Amino acid sequence: VMLDQRRLPGEVCYHRYAKPDEVAEAIRGMVVRGAPAIGIAAAYALALVARYERGDAKLFLVANGTAGRILNGTRPTAVNLAWAIARMSRKAGEVAELGPEERFAGMLTEAEAIHREDVAACQRMGALGAEDVPEGAVILTQCNAGALATGGYGTALGVVRAAHAQGKRIRVLADETRPYLQGARLTAWELHQDGIPVEVITDNMAGHFLQRGEVQFVVVGSDRIAANADVANKIGTYSVAVLANRHEVPFTVAAPWSTVDLRTRSGADIPIEQRPGDEVARVGDTVVVAEGVECRHPGFDITPASLVDAIYTERGVVRPKLGERPDVLIG
Ligand code: MRU
Repeated sequence: VMLDQRRLPGEVCYHRYAKPDEVAEAIRGMVVRGAPAIGIAAAYALALVARYERGDAKLFLVANGTAGRILNGTRPTAVNLAWAIARMSRKAGEVAELGPEERFAGMLTEAEAIHREDVAACQRMGALGAEDVPEGAVILTQCNAGALATGGYGTALGVVRAAHAQGKRIRVLADETRPYLQGARLTAWELHQDGIPVEVITDNMAGHFLQRGEVQFVVVGSDRIAANADVANKIGTYSVAVLANRHEVPFTVAAPWSTVDLRTRSGADIPIEQRPGDEVARVGDTVVVAEGVECRHPGFDITPASLVDAIYTERGVVRPKLGERPDVLIG
């Protein structure tokens, strides 16, 4: 069952899916979005395979492999998707020889574990990040890296939630995040529901507020962190990082370990999803660009490690500006 994030905040509407290709369509179509959330959705989709494919081990593994490839092809930048599919495929190998009911139970338990572990990871990184948030800070964030984008609680918004829960009098400035408006539609919605003070600004206002000293901390999520600590996140994040560095405001990232991709050497190797230009040509249903004019829409950008003060994960904190790389947290 998925909350349709395309319709928020105007409408709270849920869809039920019974087949992995329906879930793949929901991921591709942004019903569910956010790196950890699409990984979790893919994990449940692979549990669904075990529910309908009741044939022998070979048939089950073929169905699992096909569904995994379809799901993996939906969105290329968020590595959590491939990570969750690989973990579920390992589980499929373990349970393949069992009877259909036990197989389904095994796959469902694994998907639920991925989901539960993500929430725990968000809470842990939130607590670590909150230690760095100054009392009374105005916190700038880009996109939605909240409960909606994860198993619950959120990565960047996990840091915000933890700071708020500690009694720090923080406020959030949410970049609206053109063209999909995740900041305006989703971040503001979920913080407002939790009673955490939030104001929405258009993306081009961030520099103004940083220049005036009205922002004390920046925290964003990530779709993939390379071995050298370069960070892929929603388009516009790099601009925010440059501005934050120019004004000596900490620029930080919160992400679960499933977002860290040690096999990708640097940001230059991270695939950037190219979305339809039509999404730029419209604001909601209103067309704002003359017909026939082409638009560009890279969905993500790369922030170099040299601009990142901290990466909060459930394993601990990496400080890229001090020369640390994610592999310091291994072992
Ligand atoms: O295109 P989206 O909405 O899936 O992009 C989401 C983001 O860029 C988030 O910041 C990122 O996935 C981290 S979510 C915890």
